[in-house]
Amino acid sequence: MTSHTFAAAGPLRGTIRVPGDKSISHRSLMFAGLAVGRSRITGLLEGEDVLATAAAMRAFGAQIAREGDGTWVVDGVGVGSLLEPAQALDMGNSGTSTRLLMGLVASHAITATFTGDASLSGRPMKRVIDPLSLMGASFEASAGGTLPLMLRGASPAVPITYRLPVASAQVKSAVLLAGLNTPGITRVIEPVATRDHTERMLTGFGAKLEVGEEGGETVIAIHGEADLKPMDVVVPGDPSSAAFFMVAASIVPGSDLTILNVGLNPTRAGLLQVLRQMGADIAEVNPREVGGEPVADLRVRHAPLTGIDVDPAIAPAMIDEFPVLFVAAALAQGTTRTTGLEELRVKESDRLAAMAAALTLAGARVEEHDDGLTIHGTGGEPLSGTPAGADVATRLDHRIAMSMAVAGLVSRSGVSIDDTSPINTSFPTFMGLMAEASAA
Ligand code: S3P
Repeated sequence: MTSHTFAAAGPLRGTIRVPGDKSISHRSLMFAGLAVGRSRITGLLEGEDVLATAAAMRAFGAQIAREGDGTWVVDGVGVGSLLEPAQALDMGNSGTSTRLLMGLVASHAITATFTGDASLSGRPMKRVIDPLSLMGASFEASAGGTLPLMLRGASPAVPITYRLPVASAQVKSAVLLAGLNTPGITRVIEPVATRDHTERMLTGFGAKLEVGEEGGETVIAIHGEADLKPMDVVVPGDPSSAAFFMVAASIVPGSDLTILNVGLNPTRAGLLQVLRQMGADIAEVNPREVGGEPVADLRVRHAPLTGIDVDPAIAPAMIDEFPVLFVAAALAQGTTRTTGLEELRVKESDRLAAMAAALTLAGARVEEHDDGLTIHGTGGEPLSGTPAGADVATRLDHRIAMSMAVAGLVSRSGVSIDDTSPINTSFPTFMGLMAEASAA
């Protein structure tokens, strides 16, 4: 555990570049590892979560190497040809690696054991065990349907039509990935749209995948026993990492910060919309397409924010950004209310409880409800900061750590957090960029 105090350091200025998108990075390694032939990936996020996916894909037989210029070269094994890993797969902190790879294994004639850290070992896996069992896979999970778990894949697996009971791109993707090696057509019905990187990228790798609409719901059909062709992937910058700097530059007076190359897929861009509703000054510069995803540079200038009632319908498009939105709300004029956020309780930590406790410790006025937080903002006045000797508990959750680092920038006495190491799961350059932007 490495504790650290984040203190006010003046406006954020200049130009920064955030690392590659985590969701897209995971998928690029998985799909390249399943293609027949050589793919190249540039802009890959080299965080611990993505490295866990790379290690697992190697254990399944893919060859993965990093070249000196940062390009990742992947020689895939081919759909249907995954090898049985010799050892348990350590997924670290990464729910995305775990759930998506469980989907892959489910339709191959192999057995794999998944383990993880204390945070991941507490997270629900039943949501993927249920559909993958219907496809024929069998499981021996720990009590409550958690890791460590052993998965025996089925070959041939059975195609299903599965209506998602929770709005989860991970569950959707697990079923679609299982469908890749399943004879026939596997369908996922999505009542609420979630991030669609799997659909976009699988199509790029040559899978036959159709996205339609029935009665207001999205239906995704994947044709099984797919042959994936290698491709070159360019990973855009991660909007979920940019989020910390979008909020920081919005709430620190005098800031004028440009964040280059930020992915703005509509299934991910909810925070931008909500911050603008609160009065943020964020311009999209040079909009373009990178790797099949919409991207722009974001110029963020300090602006006074006003509290709002956040429409729960936007939650899936900013599901990972609520911790830092709560920090923005703590500095806004008036009250911000969020609802419909039960899913935040099963992320890397219970993010409603963790952020309510963290912000309260730092001097904010917060009420926690079953499905959201109500936050009474300071109207721009700095927070007091954490009391001497008291640290925010980050609970093995990178986004709690980074959100409270941002809170430290608008505090009188600084915000101390108990552990910065979780930041390395998704944003290894965070501390450096924070120092760079504050010193510019
Ligand atoms: C992710 C989906 C989301 C998100 C996670 C990454 C993905 O999880 O919170 O950080 O890459 O598919 P859920 O599917 O559980 O909502």
